[in-house]
Amino acid sequence: MVDFSSPNVAKEMHVGHLRSTIIGDCLARILEFQGHNVLRLNHLGDWGTQFGMLITYLREAFPEALTTADALGLGDLVDFYRQAKKRFDEDEDFKEKSRQEVVSLQAGAEDSRYAWQLLCNQSRREFQVIYNLLDVELNERGESFYNSMLPGVVEELEKLGLLEENNGAQCVFLEGFTNKEGEPLPLIVQKSDGGYNYATTDLAAIRHRIEKEDAKRLIYITDSGQTNHFSQVWQVAKRANWIPDDVEVVHVSFGLVLGEDGKKLKTRSGETVRLRDLLDEAINRARIDLEKRLKEENRSESQEFIENVAKVVGLSAVKYADLSQNRNSNYVFSFDKMLALQGNTAPYLLYAYVRVQGIARRGEIEFEKLREDAKIIWQDEQDLVLGKHLLKLNEVLELVAVELLPNRLCEYLYELSEKFNKFFENCPVLKSAEPLRTSRLLLCDLTARTLKLGLSLLGISVLERM
Ligand code: ARG
Repeated sequence: MVDFSSPNVAKEMHVGHLRSTIIGDCLARILEFQGHNVLRLNHLGDWGTQFGMLITYLREAFPEALTTADALGLGDLVDFYRQAKKRFDEDEDFKEKSRQEVVSLQAGAEDSRYAWQLLCNQSRREFQVIYNLLDVELNERGESFYNSMLPGVVEELEKLGLLEENNGAQCVFLEGFTNKEGEPLPLIVQKSDGGYNYATTDLAAIRHRIEKEDAKRLIYITDSGQTNHFSQVWQVAKRANWIPDDVEVVHVSFGLVLGEDGKKLKTRSGETVRLRDLLDEAINRARIDLEKRLKEENRSESQEFIENVAKVVGLSAVKYADLSQNRNSNYVFSFDKMLALQGNTAPYLLYAYVRVQGIARRGEIEFEKLREDAKIIWQDEQDLVLGKHLLKLNEVLELVAVELLPNRLCEYLYELSEKFNKFFENCPVLKSAEPLRTSRLLLCDLTARTLKLGLSLLGISVLERM
């Protein structure tokens, strides 16, 4: 089970969600490739106080949005949400109304439910545009899914004798987590007003995933800000015996995306970068680079070719730049670096693949036919170096599956491209005499297939020409 972090409903996907989405997708792809049955879940923040605020605010400011689909654009909703939050923090009366609204929502009041559905549908549609663009498949199982299981979590903890009351809230005191005075910290599972929180939902989710879905490994992909949350929730789940010994829970955490100034990436006007804008810009820049190169090389290509190459190169560059960093560190986002044809970049890897396809075209080679009685001759050192590296793929994938570090696969593919380029520059392929010619063509073919497979596990598709 891979659990992705994503924006809450009525918020937009920003650059922070990029990491969770593509790291999660890559790990899911690798585990699926190894034959595991992977449940990809989007634990969408589609429930709770934020809806109380938003609905309460809209009732006053724009009631139409609660009864008519798409009466407001998502951008407006995001603004309304911001204003609602401000009112919530400043105005006691508004706060109380919002709480009431959550209670009606949880109790299933029809108009609240209807408004909530409208808001969720709208956000969902917007998120889907980005998931489609990134070619990421997920199943939505938002926080609301666990709503009916929350009272059971509290009851069960009570039965097990783990529950204590603290300032009117129901909580479990944690081992190893203390406040400034050195007293144990509580994990609240039911607030004094009877409401449940993020921790309760995650406890219910653990039980559901293990008991109902028979999950053996629970992998959570979120930024490192949630590390404590998960350790606390897991501790309680373990003490309640909800996580058997043969089930592993792991937090795949990651660092920040920084701007070239070394601070959290922002737009020029200082706002968070919308993921949509970032991806569009990557594609645009890839198109500009390509058009420049076509001019320099005196090539003319169809509009369709240009659009497709720009899209593949732009998106792969963004994905690869992220995946190729050790996920635990922050990294500096630079369009120029990620789109460069040289260095540890997606374009460099894609280009190695294209090179092989070029050889096949020039020599009119059909690789499928050559594969029939494949025999490789280890003529020069370069043949051997490349061959040895090709054999390591499996080992690398096994390591990635254990450590959950996609950058290891990137490193492997980058080295493969480097070794291939060296081989290609030093060893004649089409001009070699048989049987060496066929042997080297087979090495080229194996390199291309390894690159294609490896890149597909990163969520990147190859190009035949670029
Ligand atoms: N939607 C939340 C977020 O993005 C939750 C993601 C983590 N998953 C979980 N089961 N808590 O922060």
